[in-house]
Amino acid sequence: MKLARTVVLLALAGMYLPACAQNSAPRADARLHDLLQAAQPSGTAGSTAGAAKYVGPGSCSAVACHGGIQPNGGRVLQDEYSTWVTQDKHAQAYASLKTPLGEQIASIMKLGPAEKAQRCLVCHALDVTPAEHDREFELSDGVSCESCHGPASKWLGPHIHATASQDAWLTQHREMVRLGLVDNQDLAARSERCLGCHLGAPGLNVDHDLIAAGHPDLTFELDSFTAVEPIHWVEKDQATGAANPAMFGARAWAVGQAVQLEMSMRRLQRHAKEGQWPEFSEMDCITCHHALTGPQSWRQKEGYGDHLPGRPPYNLSRYALFQHFANDVDPGLNTELNAEVHAVALLITSMSSDRAAVVAAASSAADTAHEMVQKMEHANYDRARTQRLLVAITADADHIAADGERTAEQATMTVDSLYIAEARDAGKNAATREAIDGLFKLVNNPSAYNAPQFAAQMKRVRATLQ
Ligand code: HEC
Ligand code: HEC
Ligand code: HEC
Ligand code: HEC
Repeated sequence: MKLARTVVLLALAGMYLPACAQNSAPRADARLHDLLQAAQPSGTAGSTAGAAKYVGPGSCSAVACHGGIQPNGGRVLQDEYSTWVTQDKHAQAYASLKTPLGEQIASIMKLGPAEKAQRCLVCHALDVTPAEHDREFELSDGVSCESCHGPASKWLGPHIHATASQDAWLTQHREMVRLGLVDNQDLAARSERCLGCHLGAPGLNVDHDLIAAGHPDLTFELDSFTAVEPIHWVEKDQATGAANPAMFGARAWAVGQAVQLEMSMRRLQRHAKEGQWPEFSEMDCITCHHALTGPQSWRQKEGYGDHLPGRPPYNLSRYALFQHFANDVDPGLNTELNAEVHAVALLITSMSSDRAAVVAAASSAADTAHEMVQKMEHANYDRARTQRLLVAITADADHIAADGERTAEQATMTVDSLYIAEARDAGKNAATREAIDGLFKLVNNPSAYNAPQFAAQMKRVRATLQ
């Protein structure tokens, strides 16, 4: 079975393969062989005297390499550059700094021109020092290949070629990782890479001051954002290299959620330790920004749950959905995580000025979330489990809706991702699709968010699930 599949893939790849890749295959093999003999201990490629350097996206753009105009039908599509340059917003990331909005943000923040400000370039371009350049390339390329794949100078030569069978692909991929390629096949590493810019990392910050100056608030969900990017690759099983593994979307969602929880706790630690405090971007935005509709607003009718009236609740969107799956995978560890996340939430909503207490609480929650990341990577993802999760989440409609607009937004992306993963296997259900589209409409205008309406729509989704 496995053999037959490899043969079919090989035949397909060969059929569409451009001349460049076919001709370069033997050379690539020879280089790979030499490099395998070089016996460099793993993980040192980037740190030894000859550290890996950046070559720029122009080095990947030849028509016969990654600049093809359509996918070649093989395991590596070879039209990645074309997809990126024509459809992927990352290619516009630098240009966005020069728009009126970009310049407005920089001017309010007194940073000078946005396209020259470090504070912006760290996320909007491949901003590396001259010493890290292997070839000439421009900041104006925006977020480019090596922003996600890592510096290429060491693996540009020993490259995967498109004829690779499943096994050969795996061997070559591992070798490239040894030479400094970011292992984006590893979903935890991939999520960390995306979230570095889409949530924040040391030195990469979008805080409430930047948001108030006009920067979009950052929200992320790995599976949905991958679809929007759009994807320029064939997803493969991390362990075997098999193409398009079943339930991949559910796995991407779960690992992405666990990593996002861990990284948000680390970000909170940084904010509490050295930033301005309290930091409003850690809280549920809409709680401060909704319109005043009293004296009988839905909030006043429903009550304030476990936070005091008039105090902003912690933004729980990174845990409220994920907890359902974490509970299915490891109830014991989830109980621990639950207590720790809620301890953090309580400190935030009490507007605690005790920074050390916040740092300590966020640090324990981050460590437990880290353990959960590994559980998510190794969990089993099948149709029954995905269906169970969809039911559990939609049945928790009232709590999820009450947790605020940010949670409702995550719930919408989550239900959509899980439904799509399941429908690939089980077939589409028009009623479910329509009900989920209704969720998207309810989070379109965050300031007008209405929890009872959102809960009612989640229940409609629930009713369409068998
Ligand atoms: C080096 C920083 C960086 C990394 C790494 C990164 N992004 Fe982005 N991403 C950005 C920036 C900046 C933008 C905004 C681009 C613009 O100006 O429109 C963006 C925009 C996007 C958008 C468009 C969002 C919209 O509103 O249309 C998607 C989707 C996206 N990124 C997905 C991803 C995914 C998936 C990953 C990981 C595989 C990732 N990004 C990694 C910086 C990054
Ligand atoms: C932590 C990383 C990060 C930093 C720092 C950052 N940005 Fe962004 N920026 C993003 C991401 C990610 C997006 C896309 C958000 C989305 O659509 O989900 C974005 C979107 C934008 C957009 C909207 C683009 C569009 O297509 O609508 C503008 C404008 C912008 N950023 C300007 C700036 C400016 C100016 C600075 C510096 C003052 C800056 N950014 C700093 C990550 C960052
Ligand atoms: C926003 C992040 C991001 C950017 C920018 C990006 N990629 Fe990717 N790319 C990924 C992810 C994630 C994967 C899937 C995991 C993997 O195969 O490494 C991937 C996969 C690939 C693959 C398939 C690798 C394989 O072995 O199957 C190729 C080839 C590739 N990218 C080339 C490029 C090129 C060329 C560019 C620039 C024109 C580029 N990528 C820009 C994130 C990115
Ligand atoms: C604790 C209350 C609080 C929270 C939580 C909060 N903000 Fe704010 N926000 C403010 C205040 C106060 C201002 C300044 C208003 C002014 O100067 O008129 C502001 C200003 C803004 C502005 C500028 C509005 C304008 O029209 O000038 C935006 C946009 C914004 N916040 C978005 C957000 C987002 C997005 C979040 C969540 C990530 C958030 N805020 C969380 C209190 C909050």
